[in-house]
Amino acid sequence: MSEIVLTARDLTRHYDVSRGLFKPHATVRALNGVSFELEAGKTLAVVGESGCGKSTLARALTLIEEPSSGSLKIAGQEVTGATKAQRKQLRKDVQMVFQSPYASLNPRQKVGDQLGEPLLINTNLSAAERREKVQAMMAQVGLRPEHYQRYPHMFSGGQRQRIALARAMMLQPKVLVADEPTSALDVSIQAQVLNLFMDLQQEFNTGYVFISHNLAVVRHVADTVLVMYLGRPAEMGPKEEIYNRPLHPYTQALLSATPTIHPDPSKPKIKIVGELPNPLNPPSGCAFHKRCPYATERCAVEVPELRWVDNRQVACHYAEQFVA
Ligand SMILES: Nc1ncnc2c1ncn2[C@@H]1O[C@H](COP(=O)(O)OP(=O)(O)OP(=O)(O)O)[C@@H](O)[C@H]1O
Ligand code: SF4
Ligand SMILES: [Mg+2]
Repeated sequence: MSEIVLTARDLTRHYDVSRGLFKPHATVRALNGVSFELEAGKTLAVVGESGCGKSTLARALTLIEEPSSGSLKIAGQEVTGATKAQRKQLRKDVQMVFQSPYASLNPRQKVGDQLGEPLLINTNLSAAERREKVQAMMAQVGLRPEHYQRYPHMFSGGQRQRIALARAMMLQPKVLVADEPTSALDVSIQAQVLNLFMDLQQEFNTGYVFISHNLAVVRHVADTVLVMYLGRPAEMGPKEEIYNRPLHPYTQALLSATPTIHPDPSKPKIKIVGELPNPLNPPSGCAFHKRCPYATERCAVEVPELRWVDNRQVACHYAEQFVA
């Protein structure tokens, strides 16, 4: 088995939010118990509606924010309790690409210098060696040598995302967390940028956590899919299982809302009805019960545990009923 580069165990992140003057603070359970393992060279895709905790998970995995509880191991090294020096190393091992390249790039610094910066800070390479590495990486992401001297605003959105990816890859991290990296791009160039992500993953054997609300994109990139609902995993398993035989009614609904080239008439169409619940006041029992076509009285009171059913983990009391 190949190297495990990321291990999350029961990760949670809660935010205390003010509800206004004279009202008690409330807690948003933005991330509520997420566990997974990621192998080198593989992609875990995280999907779910807006507000389900995807970016919160990304910030915890990249050490931008501390989890409220749970544990995280990066390349076998426990993050909690790590010394300052160890944390510095761990930060190098996990890089992030954001939806907006401007979150990763400095508008006032030349592209070549930005790509060389991680090398300048973290290695003893000479200026000439750094330049050589930067130029090699630029070529790899489809930039031309003359682009070295240009500023980010002189590039198209797709090119900027290539630069952000190049920068994230400069130190050959063990893990890359990409939060909706193509959703701000024109559909016509999304595929090129996605292919570049996949090429670099192969080249460097990087583990990817790829966040997207677009199930067509996820189908292209994922090995494993984690479907989140209101901060909790609803279903997680190999891509083929999730796409061909989703067992959680929420996964089924997400998939039937996704246009496909060859719709399968034998599969029932499930619409997601109603609004996403207020995360400050989540429903009792199964968080999906108010929108679920199969909900029973039990669903309103008993939280479904995430458990193994038919090659994947699923949090639904009745998952067995959906096994074809
Ligand atoms: N700093 C914060 N303070 C308070 N609440 C927060 C904070 N960050 C996120 N939240 C809340 O946590 C929940 C999860 O947010 P998050 O940004 O992780 O969702 P997301 O899945 O990334 O959504 P989107 O698809 O819109 O990017 C939301 O209810 C959000 O309002
Ligand atoms: S536990 Fe109940 S409400 Fe939740 S997804 Fe399953 S059937 Fe629907
Ligand atoms: Mg987000």
